[in-house]
Amino acid sequence: MVQLQENPLRVGLRQERIPEPLILVIFGASGDLTQRKLVPAIYNLKRQRKLPAEITIVGVARRDWSHDYFREKMREGIEEFSDGVESEEVWDDFAEGLYYCSGNMDDAASYEKLNNFLTELDGKRGTRGNRVFYFSVSPKFFAPGIKQLGQAGMLEDPIKHRLVIEKPFGKDLSSARELNAVVQKVCKEEQVYRIDHYLGKETVQNLLVFRFANAIFEPLWNLQYVYHVQITVAENIGVGDRAGYYDTSGALRDMVQNHLMQLFCLSAMEAPNSLDADSIRSEKVKVLQATSLADINNLDKSAIRGQYSAGWMKGKPVPGYREESGVAEGSTTPTYVALKLMVDNWRWKGVPFYLRSGKRLPKKVSEIAIQFREVPLLIFPSAAKQTSPNVLALRIQPNEGISLRFEAKRPGAELRTRTVNMDFNYDSSFGAATADAYTRLLFDCMLGDQTLFTRADEVEEAWRVVTPALAAWDAPADPATVPQYEAGTWEPTEAEFLLNRDGRRWRRL
Ligand code: BG6
Repeated sequence: MVQLQENPLRVGLRQERIPEPLILVIFGASGDLTQRKLVPAIYNLKRQRKLPAEITIVGVARRDWSHDYFREKMREGIEEFSDGVESEEVWDDFAEGLYYCSGNMDDAASYEKLNNFLTELDGKRGTRGNRVFYFSVSPKFFAPGIKQLGQAGMLEDPIKHRLVIEKPFGKDLSSARELNAVVQKVCKEEQVYRIDHYLGKETVQNLLVFRFANAIFEPLWNLQYVYHVQITVAENIGVGDRAGYYDTSGALRDMVQNHLMQLFCLSAMEAPNSLDADSIRSEKVKVLQATSLADINNLDKSAIRGQYSAGWMKGKPVPGYREESGVAEGSTTPTYVALKLMVDNWRWKGVPFYLRSGKRLPKKVSEIAIQFREVPLLIFPSAAKQTSPNVLALRIQPNEGISLRFEAKRPGAELRTRTVNMDFNYDSSFGAATADAYTRLLFDCMLGDQTLFTRADEVEEAWRVVTPALAAWDAPADPATVPQYEAGTWEPTEAEFLLNRDGRRWRRL
């Protein structure tokens, strides 16, 4: 038999895909995200030689900036929030492709001006009419801006024109549907890239690889072996200077409907037929369709909210949520949410998925913990009180990796067990730091790969799942009824009860 040999001269020269020349138009170019994340991400791609020379960025915002001022601001961003500008040569080349065009999101003349400018740049930069329109603006401008782009004929070509929409995509099911209708009127789903930056994280993408590239875990991944699943996305930061946005949003809209639901989907979905974007997204939709809050008539048993009160973080006093500047007096906006979800399908019937996320918790840590059932019969009587069921913990961040908790015999004459961990760590196994999520997502969008972006039906299903909690919590309520937790502690007692009632406990991370 002929053995296929790899040509040693080609090792390490794998042909990477390179995007077509294009113009990335960023609406909201004077904002934080552009300076902190988007432009540094493109600069990094440029530095890694992953982009064609023609790549061009046009920032759009209301302010009257010059091209040079925009370039200066973007350089500051790269220096402050990324690895900095290492080579003046690379920077000069990059800066030549940076432009600014002032405009108003709801003014037709601005789009006409922009369109003319983009056509002019096509001639100058060789970008061939390819466009990615990135909406990094306040959500209230999504629909008007998309309509204007449509009216100006700027989304007409399903191959050349793409649309990237930041979160939040809607503020509930009906507004998400309305926004989808606006989008679908002016372009095809293949042109739409709805951002959830969690999907750009290596550890989140690894969920699929871990589950479906290994034969040994999948047979255990079901109601026969899994007792319950805990998904945690904890943050130690408070609301900071984002109260204006956050107070109208809260943890359920800001974190759970998108990031945690994505982690849930990737943990609970069936194997896709292929790595094709729609195969994966269809499986996510399927599992969401089978999912609901454990008890929609009794939220105490399935959805708990909380708000941080004044407390201590790293030895310093911090104010409570209602004392933060920009938060409405007597606000009932949750800064913490815990949900109990049930999945009505053959794989998961009866297995609860507990999700929790909050600000001002003791630390920044995100993980998915698969808690397995106990052994059917414990034959180590002397150690009975010390054994703990197996847990597979997928650490999303920090200390990215995976660990499996199991029982081992403690050395010595007695047959006693002890809980130990088997650990995989990204750092020690791969050495490389994980790439920034925006770098990966922008690159995929430029390549036309929608796998890591959410589809219209997926976003709507995720909203549907949280709707009963939203409806209850959006209703005016006495602020005293919102459970409080002290900043720097794990959760309100009501959230502890959510699990205690089921004979379980939240993991201490
Ligand atoms: C954003 C939320 O989507 O995610 C923020 O709006 C939150 O409130 C952030 O702080 C958390 O992202 P990460 O990647 O730091 O976990």
